[in-house]
Order: sequence, then C-alpha cells, then structure tokens
Amino acid sequence: MTDLVVRRLLVDMEQPIARHWCAGDAFRSALFNALSMSFPVGEQFFIDSVRNGFKQLPADQQEKFKTEVQGFIGQEATHRRLHSLYNAHLAKLGLVNDWEPRARERLKMMEGVDVRHWLGITAANEHFTAIFADWMLKNPDLLGDQDDRLKTLWLWHSAEESEHKSTAFDLYVALGGSHEWRIKWMRRLTTVFLIDTLRQTFNNLQHDGTLWKWSTWKSGASYLFGQRGLVRQCYGPWRDYFRRDFHPNQHDSTSSERWLADNAAQYVPVGA
Ligand SMILES: [Fe+2]
Ligand SMILES: [Fe+2]
Repeated sequence: MTDLVVRRLLVDMEQPIARHWCAGDAFRSALFNALSMSFPVGEQFFIDSVRNGFKQLPADQQEKFKTEVQGFIGQEATHRRLHSLYNAHLAKLGLVNDWEPRARERLKMMEGVDVRHWLGITAANEHFTAIFADWMLKNPDLLGDQDDRLKTLWLWHSAEESEHKSTAFDLYVALGGSHEWRIKWMRRLTTVFLIDTLRQTFNNLQHDGTLWKWSTWKSGASYLFGQRGLVRQCYGPWRDYFRRDFHPNQHDSTSSERWLADNAAQYVPVGA
C-alpha cells in the first residue's frame, strides 16, 4: 500500500492570474487553464469512485486499503479546492469553462452503474494524469518563470498524482474489474479526454483573442510534437496501459519523490 501524505500548499491563490502566465505563451497558458477547468468536476468523480469502491470491499480488504483511500481522497480534495480558486481567476480574465457543464451532463449517465466502471474510468484518467505529471516534473522549465506560485501548484499537483497513481487501479483489481473493460475504458477515455482538452483550449484561445495568431500554433506544435513534446514523450507510457500485466508502479516515480524532497518548504503536511 502507498503511504499518501495530504499537504497544504503554501501558495497565495488570492493574487490574480496573468493572461499568459505560462512563460508568456498563449498556447501553453490556454492548455493548462483548460486542464485546470476540468479538475473540480473530474476530481470529485475520482473521489466518489474510490470512496464507493472502498465501501464495496470485504472487511479484510478495507483494512488494507483504508489509509491509502483516506490519503487519496485528501489529496484530490486539496487539488479541487486550489484549482477552484485558480479557475475563479480565469473567469475574471473572461475565460468560459464549457468543459465542466459538459462533463457534469455526461456523468449523469453513470448514476446506478456498477462501481467497477466508475473505477475503470478513474484508473484510466489517473494513468493519463500520472504520465502527464511525470512529463511535467521532468520538464519544469516549460512552465516558465513568470508565476512561481502557479509553477509550484502544477508541480505539487503532479508530484501527488504520481504518488497516488495506483490507488484507483488497485481498487479496480481488488473488486474483480476485468482487463477487457480496463482497456475499453482507456480507449474511450482517450478520445473523450483529447477532444475535451482541445475544445477547451480552443475556447480559451478564442476568448483570449489569440486563436488565429501564427505564434500560438507554432508554439502549440513544438509543445505537443517537438523533441520534448507532450505527445511525443507520453505516447509510449500511455500505450503501456494496454498490456495485460501492466501496473502503474512499473512506471518510475523518482521525479515526484525528488520534487517533494527538494520543495518541502513549499507545503505543510496535514495532521503531521
Ligand atoms: Fe489531482
Ligand atoms: Fe489523481
């Protein structure tokens, strides 16, 4: 079982966010802002999946998972809270979150559905988040130096995503979730997640007035497909999920451990 620490991040989320806070770059700022917009509703779904899945475990298994599940819920609840504050600043910049209402509508279809499907979706999402997090922790300079507070927020979130990457997966397996459904959900989620991310990124760029600028798409192409590009670097780890013997812990977590050790002054462990 993973020992998950809930941390209170020492960042001031009262201060407004600049339009192009991420290295002065319109595309990158719009992409990260889009992801932030998805977190409050998405992370609530992950919390509900893990909480409800835990309740369905037999007593001896519950004992095994108890502290890890508490840590997972605490971490995701803290992420939700800070990203809600972040998103309130984005609204003041004139950006419009269309992702959240769309996701809420879609999640209504999950009511009454077997909790293993909830966990299958959550495990797929958590895999996405974990590989993206690891990529970010390995390329922190791409977040720029213009807003240290947001840089810290994204790296802290990444470190914790890497830390709890196996919780939903292990619960799914403990409840008898099948390999076939696990990969089926990953295929579906990949399409939905990529479309949602692109739609909201376009939407943000449109409201920002930078959608039709050549510089925006030049930056977007290099950020996604360049040498250190997100898509190029994450494709292999994403594909690993389809292996029958895959487990999230097969992916290295040292970037997360190192960031947490080197940045201990940026947070306070809760309840320590
Ligand atoms: Fe999170
Ligand atoms: Fe997570």
